[in-house]
Amino acid sequence: MKPEFQWANAELSARYNVTPLTPAFRVDPQFEADVLEGLDDDQKHIPSIWLYDRRGSELFEEITEVAEYYPTRTETRLLAGLAPELESEIGGVHSLVEIGSGSSRKTRLLLAALGSLGRYVPVDISSDFLRAAAAGLARDFPSLSVQPVVADFTQPFALPSAGRDAVDSAGNLGFFPGSTIGNFTPDAAVALMAQLGRTLGPRSRLLIGVDTTQDPALLIPAYDDAAGVTAEFNLNLLDRINRELEGAFDRRDFRHLARHDPHQGRIEMHLVSRRAHEVRVRGRTFAFAEGETIHTENCYKYSPGQFLRMAHAAQWRCERSWQDGGRTGFTVYLLRREA
Ligand code: AVI
Repeated sequence: MKPEFQWANAELSARYNVTPLTPAFRVDPQFEADVLEGLDDDQKHIPSIWLYDRRGSELFEEITEVAEYYPTRTETRLLAGLAPELESEIGGVHSLVEIGSGSSRKTRLLLAALGSLGRYVPVDISSDFLRAAAAGLARDFPSLSVQPVVADFTQPFALPSAGRDAVDSAGNLGFFPGSTIGNFTPDAAVALMAQLGRTLGPRSRLLIGVDTTQDPALLIPAYDDAAGVTAEFNLNLLDRINRELEGAFDRRDFRHLARHDPHQGRIEMHLVSRRAHEVRVRGRTFAFAEGETIHTENCYKYSPGQFLRMAHAAQWRCERSWQDGGRTGFTVYLLRREA
């Protein structure tokens, strides 16, 4: 029986040292190191990548549907408008590579519009999400070869070989939606875009969504919704530490905070300690003062000028862009690799 989709990892992990599927019971040593080091710092912090365990990924999907979270629906609207024009813009692309694919919902707009596509490569760190999304797409687009890669895309990863039949004279098309680039500091964003250019290869293009909103009246509710889904997403990190790192956090001792920093042009997410207390994690004790925070995420809202400077520094140039005409200024850029 023909498999619904091919798992690229068995072959690739052996050949290129790509992150293999991690059994659920194994704790990632990097998670432990990041938590223990981050809780020891003057400004306590934990990298936002650790928000996305299975529960965190589900909660993020819920966030994308809350009324106040404008980025997803704004970007989806832009993609629906630009998708029919994309084929003539970039014609002949064989492989679509989605970075941080999650549920792959927006991808369907592109898959339906790009007739030349032969292959879809979703790349995500969450194997559960990837498996479900890849199976659904393989079913709905039977002529497409779906080749998921489980990888932390912030580290170099390899694409599965396109095979002998692939006609990819137009290069690969990378797709990096959701303004996830905003979860990276400017230096890290340049490094990531440069690395993606090397991975996608010569003549490649990158379709990337970037939120530029700086209006706190839109931003604060988007990152602190009335139903408390974002708060739950943030607090889930404490549950994850308790579960995976023998932590003893009581989530009732913390509250979610979304703070706008106009100088850095970013929203910050924090967990605020409601009282002075101590918490043990992996046998170590961490003291919290009342009001002290753990900084858990940055969401930069890069202006078009700032974003394009970063893209140039990473060897990409802009071919076209589509901007939301409303209050958000959310923009989807089509970039082409310079080298
Ligand atoms: C994944 N990323 C683009 C989201 C954002 O808007 O920065 C993560 C998020 N954090 C809280 N709400 C959404």
